[in-house]
Amino acid sequence: MAHSHLFSRDVVPGGEQHLFARLWSALVIVLITTGAFVAPLRVSLGDDLIPHAALLDALLSLLFTADIAFNAGESRRTGLAYGRFLLAADIAAAIPFFLLFPGWPWLLFLRLFKLARVAKAMGAWRQQHLHHWNALRLVYFVYWLAIAVHWLATGWLSLRGIYAGADRWTLYLHSLYWCISTITTIGYGDITPANNEQVLYAIVVMIFGVGMYGYVIANISTIIGNLQPARTRYLANMEKLGAFMRSREIPPALQRRIRDFYGYVWEHRLGYDESSIVQGLPPGLLVEVSLFLKRDIIQKVPFFKGAGEELIREIALVMQPIVYTPGDTVFLAGEPGADMFFISRGHCEVIGTDGRSIVATLREGDFFGEIALLEHRPRSASVRAATYCDLYRLDKESFDRVIAKFPEFAAHIGATSAGRRQEPGGPGRRRPESR
Ligand code: CMP
Repeated sequence: MAHSHLFSRDVVPGGEQHLFARLWSALVIVLITTGAFVAPLRVSLGDDLIPHAALLDALLSLLFTADIAFNAGESRRTGLAYGRFLLAADIAAAIPFFLLFPGWPWLLFLRLFKLARVAKAMGAWRQQHLHHWNALRLVYFVYWLAIAVHWLATGWLSLRGIYAGADRWTLYLHSLYWCISTITTIGYGDITPANNEQVLYAIVVMIFGVGMYGYVIANISTIIGNLQPARTRYLANMEKLGAFMRSREIPPALQRRIRDFYGYVWEHRLGYDESSIVQGLPPGLLVEVSLFLKRDIIQKVPFFKGAGEELIREIALVMQPIVYTPGDTVFLAGEPGADMFFISRGHCEVIGTDGRSIVATLREGDFFGEIALLEHRPRSASVRAATYCDLYRLDKESFDRVIAKFPEFAAHIGATSAGRRQEPGGPGRRRPESR
């Protein structure tokens, strides 16, 4: 098929390497996060809480060293500079301090600079998945909050010290419990600061908690409200529409039809007006997007299936989608013909000259309205939508241009149209008027 490759463009060049890079970044983020959780625990509780702590250290140093090589390769491949801060953070995270200075566990905190990598990756994902921006915001928020709460809890643990009779896991849990109840401003008061240092620390955590609270109240409701922006906008528009229809006292039956129409458009096109969205694109991209959006009709109309690429491109660019609801008149017999239509979904009925009889029922892939354009005369019959119909409209000017440029299209339309004119009850045979 001449146009089949139009819809099969490879979107991700070098997909394999892309996949490896993404998997590696995901692994490194998991490792950085592990480091961010483990380091303060080891500083406050000692090494024995974490099983195989030395092995974990060795693994992290090894993989972070490999990550430096990977990042250097990526920056060479993409031409983007490595970045001094990121390089310093990567090197600091990769040095095996546990071997060099075994008695200084707080050196592990140097690994936390590598969290800058996580922040950078989050920024990149945000750019790539703008349509999931709100969901991502929520995930990022929970991620940083979890790390912050964990750090605050381990800080409290260090201040309280390890006391006899409690195992380390229980101590950590109690700290976490104190920290969360303070941050969320619940503050049961069953664990209280015992000296000035702890009082100061509690004040800091309380202030952090109030800030968090403000942030949550201000942002989370907006984020959740925006999770389905199209749906939210659709519902708001429907409410506005309802208020308008009631204020203008539009009859209930008509109101129902209007609502049904918007419901149909919402379900089938997510409420978007395609043409307005693609309008701002540069010409090359506009053709590609138009072809893609109109692939349904191009694949349904038998003639288009065998047509040349140039014809398809020309038609895809000028055809405009239009929806009719059941019972709508597309046009009436006798009206001047300004356009022809292709059916993408639904049935249309051609009404005979008596105004009642159904001469023909046209379905997906059929077209109509061509006779008036070819013969420069008024509509030979009325056409009505029998169901919800997704049509594509080709205006007269574009039709004339395409007919003049592509004789095979003219011949096909002409042959179908001639057959229709012969049919009993149809528009009858007439000689085309001279131009
Ligand atoms: P036009 O005359 O512009 O407007 C009415 C349209 O109905 C006409 O073009 C044809 O496309 C279509 N039409 C008329 N008669 C028939 C028929 N017998 N079968 C199918 N379609 C028809």
